[in-house]
Amino acid sequence: MLLVSRSRWRWWAACVGLAACLLWSWGAQAGGHEAVQPANKAILLVSFGTSVPQARQVFAKIEEATKARFPGVEVRWAFTAKKVRQKLAREGQVTLSPAQALANLAEDGYTQVAAQSLHIIPGEEFDGLKDTAQRFAGMPKGLKQVTVGQPLLASPPDMRRVAQVMLAHVPKERRPSEALVFMGHGTAHQANEVYPAMAAIFKELDANTFLATVEGSPEWDKVKQEIKARGIKKAWLIPLMSVAGDHARNDMAGQEDDSWASQLSQAGIASQPVLMGMAEYPEVVAVWLDHLQTAWDRLGKE
Ligand code: CO
Repeated sequence: MLLVSRSRWRWWAACVGLAACLLWSWGAQAGGHEAVQPANKAILLVSFGTSVPQARQVFAKIEEATKARFPGVEVRWAFTAKKVRQKLAREGQVTLSPAQALANLAEDGYTQVAAQSLHIIPGEEFDGLKDTAQRFAGMPKGLKQVTVGQPLLASPPDMRRVAQVMLAHVPKERRPSEALVFMGHGTAHQANEVYPAMAAIFKELDANTFLATVEGSPEWDKVKQEIKARGIKKAWLIPLMSVAGDHARNDMAGQEDDSWASQLSQAGIASQPVLMGMAEYPEVVAVWLDHLQTAWDRLGKE
């Protein structure tokens, strides 16, 4: 009798213990992961910025795609170009630097932020964003963690994926004998090496594809000579920039004598600009969002 009741007591004790354990783990899951954390996580989309109003509409589409992929998550913006922010401020539009946006997020009670660079290459603007993110992470009473998503062309697979998307979006009227000329920004930063690499991938996919940059290499003068030397009669000019902003509209397609379109026409080559920024293609935005996913998944893990 005594033996039976002791074992029964043990059985009850084990049951109660197990139930408490289950309740505790269920509570920790509901409270710890499902309820508390998402409310404290936010996304910061970080672009160079643009002062061209048409180009800014593109940002609304990126935001829409971000919210569709991360439902219910707070999404905010920052522009890294001070000149652009100042120009917009003169026009009465308030835009924030990454530092200002991160400070606001901390003030509003967010603790973890995934900042996504909407830049094309990991250059100066991206370095600046990484620095800023590092300084903000772990600030007293501030953000605990800020992860940064890679820019568009961060790896060889990204480059190939993006090159294929860009070629798939070339207007159907283009004949194979006509040149495709992509205009990249270019930089003195070592990340400029992405452009010659992209040029090589483009050439491999389509022999009449060229890539030149405004401020780096490959240089436009050399590329222009190559197009001339090949006896090409017509060129399609396409921005390899997130938005068809000032460089695309003026330096590439503008009426001035020194625009790429004018220089080609002086050389007897017809040109047709495509004034679409890369961010207007959903498949390009998907690459940025894949990088954001990686940054988002790192939240809470470092
Ligand atoms: Co520029």
